[in-house]
Amino acid sequence: MFYNKKMAVLEIKKYPEKILKEKALPIEYIDGNIQRLMDDMIETMYALGGIGLAANQVGISKRICVIDISAIEEEMPLIVLVNPEIIEKKGSIESEEGCLSLPEYKTNVKRAEEVRVKGLDRKGMPIEIEGKGFLARALQHEIDHLDGLLLIDRISPIKREFFKKRYKKTMAGNK
Ligand code: NI
Repeated sequence: MFYNKKMAVLEIKKYPEKILKEKALPIEYIDGNIQRLMDDMIETMYALGGIGLAANQVGISKRICVIDISAIEEEMPLIVLVNPEIIEKKGSIESEEGCLSLPEYKTNVKRAEEVRVKGLDRKGMPIEIEGKGFLARALQHEIDHLDGLLLIDRISPIKREFFKKRYKKTMAGNK
């Protein structure tokens, strides 16, 4: 772990905030500010009990995501990915997902069963990750965020309408 005393928990952007619908911009080079953002994203993900987080979820339109699924698959290390890209997909499987930007909502989403993703790590070194099972799902969910897509964009229109009605009520109840 790259522990930094100055790490901060950032505010999460929630549906229907506009930045979540926008395609995030590629990173051209990784400097101290970008690494600081990565560390803050990691801190935020852990503080909120999330298993993944994309930079646009904290209001920054850059192609960075962090994933830690060790709560589900113990041996999986923390992943920091810059400019991630899916280069291969296999199979199809439906399973339940949630998202920090859609509080109190969970639904089944159909995704590829396996993916191969390339990108850069925290230091800017090229990496390739082969994701199976839950990791494949987390990678697709976070890369979707960077493309301006939420899990509700992956469900049927009927389910989406139902979500919108329920979500309004939930958010009104939380005020
Ligand atoms: Ni999410």
